[in-house]
Amino acid sequence: MKKIGIIGTGTMGCGIAQVASQIRCEVVFQNRKQESVDRGLTRIQWSLDKLVSRDKLKQAQSEGIMDRIHGAVSLEELKGCDIVLESAPENLEIKQDLLETLSGIVSDRCIIATNTSSLSVTKLASFVTHPERFIGMHFFNPVPLMSLVEVVSGLRTSDETTAAVCAFAKSLGKTPIEVMDLPGFVVNRVLFPMINEAAFALNEGVSDAEGIDACMKGGCNHPMGPLELADLVGLDVVMAILQSLHREYGSPRYAPCLAIVKRVEAGWLGRKTGRGFYTYSK
Ligand code: 3HC
Repeated sequence: MKKIGIIGTGTMGCGIAQVASQIRCEVVFQNRKQESVDRGLTRIQWSLDKLVSRDKLKQAQSEGIMDRIHGAVSLEELKGCDIVLESAPENLEIKQDLLETLSGIVSDRCIIATNTSSLSVTKLASFVTHPERFIGMHFFNPVPLMSLVEVVSGLRTSDETTAAVCAFAKSLGKTPIEVMDLPGFVVNRVLFPMINEAAFALNEGVSDAEGIDACMKGGCNHPMGPLELADLVGLDVVMAILQSLHREYGSPRYAPCLAIVKRVEAGWLGRKTGRGFYTYSK
């Protein structure tokens, strides 16, 4: 994999573009809005500076990473990519539209991977011309620091595609684990009900946000508490994943807690808006 396309310049798209460029791939970083591309590039530069300042990346290694990431507003610029990773918003219609268009642009040997966290990979595969070369690659936030990639084969994904994507994930320095194409896969199915439960505990006054997070860090050795993690992921994303699990499994245990829903309605989406369960300074 030498030339990598990324559709979507949000948190996950930025992280994937960054780690692909770190292993010297050429990256086409696409969003239909130029301002979103620019914001994404600034974010990647921030992450690189942070990694260098914390001695997680050598200054010399960081050089050239930004130069290999080429911003693009048109999907046409993804022509010639060996693999395209779609990391657009979690909306079936948006993804359908993108995938149908992309399918007519990339070559027959290009692999298309989706970073969906809650939609069916088998369903998304039905929007592309070559479903055997379509797969899920589910990364974790923050991508540069998290080792896992859940590799999700749809019903029509070929074994060759699965093997190629596992090898690619390893070349990115990640650990691929193959999981079934069922809602939430493994991590989100286990993690998001825990975050939801923490929000219920907050609502019922079991403890305050700091107390709940401190309990989970001190009592379970989690690196972050569930509520600060929710703020990192984004409360809009947390709510959408819970709603999707609720819809797909039909069980009330996944219904998002009002402590999450009300914050989303207020625009308190976590770190990215400066307020969620916690308040953040710039
Ligand atoms: N690039 C570079 N640095 C970053 C970064 C990024 N993308 N994101 C955060 N950082 C920095 C922070 O700014 C902070 O720096 P600061 O202290 O100077 O402000 C630093 O990382 C935090 O470093 P720590 O020393 O406190 O912690 P570690 O480096 O040891 O670990 C961590 C950080 C890996 C984020 C750890 O806290 C962790 O593992 N947290 C849990 C993350 C998790 O569970 N992610 C999964 C979310 S679910 C998901 O992604 C699924 C999707 O579908 C929604």
